[in-house]
Amino acid sequence: MQIQLAVIGGTGITANILTETTSQQVVTTRFGSADVTIGTIGAVPAVFLHRHGIGHKIPPHAISHRANIAALASLGVRAVYATTAVGSLCTSIHPGEIVLLDDLIDMTRNQAERTFFATDVVHTDVTPPYSQALRKAFIAAGAELGFDIRDHGTYVCTDGPRFETPAEIRMMARLGGDVVGMTGANEAMLAIEAGLHYCGASVVTNYGAGLTPTGIAHESVHEIVVSVAPQLQKLLLSAVRNIDLTTLPQRGSGRFTP
Ligand code: HPA
Repeated sequence: MQIQLAVIGGTGITANILTETTSQQVVTTRFGSADVTIGTIGAVPAVFLHRHGIGHKIPPHAISHRANIAALASLGVRAVYATTAVGSLCTSIHPGEIVLLDDLIDMTRNQAERTFFATDVVHTDVTPPYSQALRKAFIAAGAELGFDIRDHGTYVCTDGPRFETPAEIRMMARLGGDVVGMTGANEAMLAIEAGLHYCGASVVTNYGAGLTPTGIAHESVHEIVVSVAPQLQKLLLSAVRNIDLTTLPQRGSGRFTP
């Protein structure tokens, strides 16, 4: 059966988020290759994309987001739930919380990975950046399960791989950001350019630099996401039951071919 649904797994999220897995594949695209696991979420055929490659070997600044998104498009995917680990930009958004994103600020500088249309004149409407239909289904899943998810949040994206300075965290908060991560902007924009419905669900793993007296440990970032993964799986299972993938409206310019 045609696979129309994808989950992109960031730090701490593995293919075990699928309810069943059948095979692992390397998908080759003109932008590079992508590691995927094929399976299902409940009754829905789904593909899990390993954002950092199998075994989490690719650091954020070296990810080919174009290869990852082109791979999903070439498999026939129409809808994407993407997980990310994020730092909080304020003391009222806490580690362990799930934030369903509704906007983003792109502070990345990686030129190669920002667009599929580097040589064509294509200006893509990215309003809103995160799919309304997928957000709605995820919010309904949270209500059905009685989970306390934060249903809005602006994601600020850096190139990484370092964490931010305290002044950068203060700046991002003043600009309207709620959380900060290193992977979600180019990925979201490329997904829209490719005509995909894209929805970002972030797991808060730490307060941003300078908001608490302690530093940020990568190990605890990983641990917190792992502890929230079962909750995310239940949310996805319930959300995908509520989405009719065949009636999603067109996204992007329609000009992209994988
Ligand atoms: N900053 C950027 N990326 C992150 C953070 C952070 O504090 N935590 C998890 N990913």
